Amino acid sequence: MRRSSASLHFVQALNQTLRRLPPGEARRLPPGPRGLPLLGNLIDVQTDLLELFERGLREHGDTVRFRFGPFDFVVVHRPEDIRTVLLSRAGDFRKSPSYEGLRLAVGNGLLTSEGTFWRRQRKLMTPAFHHRRLVDFCQTMVTCASECGDGWAAAAAEREGDEGPGRVVDLHAEMLSLTFRIVGLTLFSTELSEKAGRMGPALATVLEHVNHVATAMLLTPPPWVPTPRNRRFRRAMEVVDDVVLGIIAERRRSGEEVGDLLGMLMAASDETGEVRMTDAELRDEVATLVLAGHETTAQALTWAFMLLSRHPDVERRVVAEIREVCGERPPSFEDLKALELTGRVIDESMRLYPPAWLFERQACVDLDLGGYFIPANTLVAVSPWTLHRHPAYWENPEGFDPDRFSPERVAARPRYAYLPFGGGPRQCIGVNFALYEAKLVLATLLQRFSFALVPGQDLRPDAAVTLRPSQGMKMWVRPRTST
Ligand code: HEM
Repeated sequence: MRRSSASLHFVQALNQTLRRLPPGEARRLPPGPRGLPLLGNLIDVQTDLLELFERGLREHGDTVRFRFGPFDFVVVHRPEDIRTVLLSRAGDFRKSPSYEGLRLAVGNGLLTSEGTFWRRQRKLMTPAFHHRRLVDFCQTMVTCASECGDGWAAAAAEREGDEGPGRVVDLHAEMLSLTFRIVGLTLFSTELSEKAGRMGPALATVLEHVNHVATAMLLTPPPWVPTPRNRRFRRAMEVVDDVVLGIIAERRRSGEEVGDLLGMLMAASDETGEVRMTDAELRDEVATLVLAGHETTAQALTWAFMLLSRHPDVERRVVAEIREVCGERPPSFEDLKALELTGRVIDESMRLYPPAWLFERQACVDLDLGGYFIPANTLVAVSPWTLHRHPAYWENPEGFDPDRFSPERVAARPRYAYLPFGGGPRQCIGVNFALYEAKLVLATLLQRFSFALVPGQDLRPDAAVTLRPSQGMKMWVRPRTST
């Protein structure tokens, strides 16, 4: 089933390549780099994708056409065109074949499903992300962040050396395990990290494979070919399935009514009250939320800590805000509104380092975008990485300036010039969850610790499915002396 849908998209893309365009329309295709015969720009994908897209925008303008093998791949940057793709003509697009890698891992979950099934699932899951429910989740987020800090503090005290108390941590790895734990506890009331002995390495293999499939595009054998890579992935998926189906089975056995997301999904039924989600459907949604809900937020936090350590003036202002709002007690849901600058730091970090740095659709029909002809089956992408640096919308685009997110300055910009969470009906369902989590974790940890980058690291972002530091991020974490 999964294989046939990938092949179908592939055949559609080939059809588009071989298709004779309506007279005159070939001249209206968007401009872009030439690339090699047959391969097009496919080789560049294997080198520096971020640079490729930056160059595309610089040299060819707001609507750029790349060729990745048989795929025409158009990146749009005009906010009105992005709005067309994500919102006003969302029904004329489906998710692109590059979601196939993700589909191998999360099946037909909310991120990858389409049509009536997606609509039903979105409706079922939306109440779990309601503001009211997030209040309870916030307490768990702060507790988990505090416990992460307790671990650092204990280790720092043990190892006090010439540079005073403190320790070096891989902040990226720390944020990944923290957000992983938060997703497990909030959404499934499960200490996923207890299962991390098995789940952690398996999930890492799954994510690596999903990244590989998304970026290797046609240069990777299909999943049914028993290559060592495909076999490794299948073994890892067996472990993930075992853990996820185990959580579902445990819940069914206990018959306990738990008010978390899993409980809501298990209790949810259609209008007739008869159709409930099967274990396989539940498995797909649980896997989707574990994957979509922890990596992205971990990247946002990691880049925020990096940027703050490079901008001590901003860091001082944020710490002063946290002290003023919370004093010495840990932050809470009630503080979120007052932690304004902390929130803007998250916004600005996601502008410069958008965790979802690219998302894609495939056109179902011929259409016009930005004055160009877009034939059916073309892949159409939104690239927050280049959009968030577009000089037409961002003054001094490379500068770190959280105050760009003051209400007045936000109101002066087009809505579709800043899209860390996407837009339209497929906008991230976890947007508030993620923003509350990022703000509370940042505040809880900054209140207690200062962060300094270990010098000499390669901090280039790796454009995988999410934007992550390519070699981790080593930081000195030092307890703050209280005022
Ligand atoms: C900083 C953190 C996050 C970022 C940057 C982010 C970004 C995104 C983006 C850009 C999309 C849209 C993709 C597209 O249009 O193709 C999306 C969808 C989604 N996100 Fe997030 N996300 C984050 C956190 C979360 C969290 C915490 C959860 C759940 C706990 C979550 C669950 C989902 C789901 C289920 C979808 C699919 C929604 C649908 O298609 O109906 N995300 N996310």
